[in-house]
Amino acid sequence: MQDILNAPFVREMGKTTANMYRLGWDERNGGNISMLLDEAEVAPYLDTAKVLRTIPTGFDAKMLAGRYLIVTGTGKYFKNVQDDPETNLGVLRVSSDGKNAELLWGYRDGGQFTSELPAHLMSHMTRLSIDPKHRVVMHCHPTNTLAMNFILPLNEKDVTHALWQMCSECIVVFPDGVGVLPWMVCGTNEIGEATAEKMKQFRLVIWGMHGIYAVGSSLDEAFGLIETVEKAAQVYMLIADKPRVNTIRDDELRQLAARFGVTYREDFLG
Ligand code: 13P
Ligand code: ZN
Repeated sequence: MQDILNAPFVREMGKTTANMYRLGWDERNGGNISMLLDEAEVAPYLDTAKVLRTIPTGFDAKMLAGRYLIVTGTGKYFKNVQDDPETNLGVLRVSSDGKNAELLWGYRDGGQFTSELPAHLMSHMTRLSIDPKHRVVMHCHPTNTLAMNFILPLNEKDVTHALWQMCSECIVVFPDGVGVLPWMVCGTNEIGEATAEKMKQFRLVIWGMHGIYAVGSSLDEAFGLIETVEKAAQVYMLIADKPRVNTIRDDELRQLAARFGVTYREDFLG
């Protein structure tokens, strides 16, 4: 058996959480990540027949039965993941009835998966049925994205349009726009279901006055989506209280979409 601390998926989780922390997206235990793994990726590092603990999830994820994931722990600080992956991360397998998580490694201090597991597993289910390459669900609390929620109407058109206007790359990186949920109680099946429903249309979903979710085929892809939104939100917040002399017009956004060949939400333009 090889040392799991050298597994690419453990190292990559350490690097990603450290970057997110440094960017200020994950104060204290804020944020969570889950990434689907193939059995072949896990097998060199773990005895997959040895289940350390079986933890009920409180909902049915039958579509993911038998699937492996690496998931951040609840209450754990992103800043600490790289130094102590075994306490702050866990490798899980969804049980055959879809109702339990079988812990194969991690949560060494007796901890368990993120309280947002419903939103993660439900979003994985939605995205896998749209994108066979889908692997990652990422959640965090980026400062400017959050700040914007307090001064803009919380709807998909206003939020997406405002972001697209802030940087030329935005409409190219997320032409599908940003889904928006109202403020809701987090850590529940209800917010999980609402998030997964939005994920039918969007790869980015804002949880009103809480944070953001992104999905992708890799940690880099999900990270890059959030990074692009947060950059645009930062520009928005820097100019929000200043007179705006120039803007990227809708006809210019259309030109960008045409040049880069992206299908975008035309209904989100003026
Ligand atoms: P966890 O510590 O349970 O992952 O929760 C953090 C968070 O961001 C809740 O939305
Ligand atoms: Zn959160």
